[in-house]
Amino acid sequence: QKGRPIAAPVRRPRPRKRERAPTSAPASIHSWRTDSIPGRLAVTFPVVPATARRRRTMVVTVAATGSDTAEPLHSTTFASRYVRDQLPRYRMPSGSIPKEAAYQIISDELMLDGNPRLNLASFVTTWMEPECGKLMMDSVNKNYVDMDEYPVTTELQNRCVNMIAHLFNAPIGEDETAIGVSTVGSSEAIMLAGLAFKRKWANKMKEQGKPCDKPNIVTGANVQVCWEKFARYFEVELKEVKLTEGYYVMDPKKAVEMVDENTICVAAILGSTLTGEYEDVKLLNDLLVAKNKETGWDVPIHVDAASGGFIAPFLQPELEWDFRLPLVKSINVSGHKYGLVYPGVGWVIWRSKADLPDELIFHINYLGTDQPTFTLNFSKGASQIIAQYYQLIRLGFEGYK
Ligand SMILES: Cc1ncc(COP(=O)(O)O)c(C=O)c1O
Repeated sequence: QKGRPIAAPVRRPRPRKRERAPTSAPASIHSWRTDSIPGRLAVTFPVVPATARRRRTMVVTVAATGSDTAEPLHSTTFASRYVRDQLPRYRMPSGSIPKEAAYQIISDELMLDGNPRLNLASFVTTWMEPECGKLMMDSVNKNYVDMDEYPVTTELQNRCVNMIAHLFNAPIGEDETAIGVSTVGSSEAIMLAGLAFKRKWANKMKEQGKPCDKPNIVTGANVQVCWEKFARYFEVELKEVKLTEGYYVMDPKKAVEMVDENTICVAAILGSTLTGEYEDVKLLNDLLVAKNKETGWDVPIHVDAASGGFIAPFLQPELEWDFRLPLVKSINVSGHKYGLVYPGVGWVIWRSKADLPDELIFHINYLGTDQPTFTLNFSKGASQIIAQYYQLIRLGFEGYK
């Protein structure tokens, strides 16, 4: 008995000849037919001419899952009825489909999209290292706003805000932290910065007993659409400096001429959407300092550094465009452009706490402790913030340069 199995060998009954499924379609089969009986399995039958049918019976092996979504074992996702039958386009289908079919249908349709790696439009990052991709996927189910639940993610956001504020030369004391927030992109960042300017200006006008129902903002006509959105959504007149032949950015002299007592800020662009050109923020600052002195106003500057914010600090560190200029009170930058993160992250940094009116900050305590928030939306994913932190520490100043 040595070396022989103790248990009796299992006898497997040989399938009876007529039950064996064919490995390939018999020549007599002309086409295939699917019968779907409500509440039962869908079975695909070969349609066999009557003469052949008399000779053999065809039995199709069926996966017994106990559900009515079972398909023949040999059928590929493409052969399943779920992929063959068209789904309604604009109404929710009444029934469910297997996950493989859902995946296949969607990924096939997405093949008609362009290839992101070949897309240079909107300057958005289309490749990140797999290690960062893993971090992003690992946190794709974290709601950024649940700060009590994800305190480390909040801490990473705060580190990013501080690193970017230092990059922009914010005047932050040794024991101070920077004032700023992550956003979904530069557009949200600009809405928040614009709201802060509008509220600060209105408060000042009220204090002086002056009307505050006609705010305006001065920009170049080359501004990105998000400035037009800000103006329309938040009822601020957009005063655009016209471009001239051969000069496609805002002329600071003309901008300052357009400023009046109702101007909540002048917005300058570091990296025009049309050409990538920097506007002369230093000249704008100097002219505006003089105008403010002359009139007694204190019109500030916002820099839309959606693209340039992650370029100038590395390539033109001597260029003064940021918080080194006294009238620059806030700056936005797109993390998903030259911040080198996949789409869905931007940043807005304020010069100091005094530049962000308190009444715009909401305090929530849904999860126990006080959480100040200043964003347009509530829930959002945490992955992009984590990815931004990854890039900042992975590349460092040297890497971005
Ligand atoms: C100068 C400028 N500002 C703002 C934006 C809007 O940025 P986002 O797509 O991050 O909202 C862009 C986008 O191209 C831009 O070029």
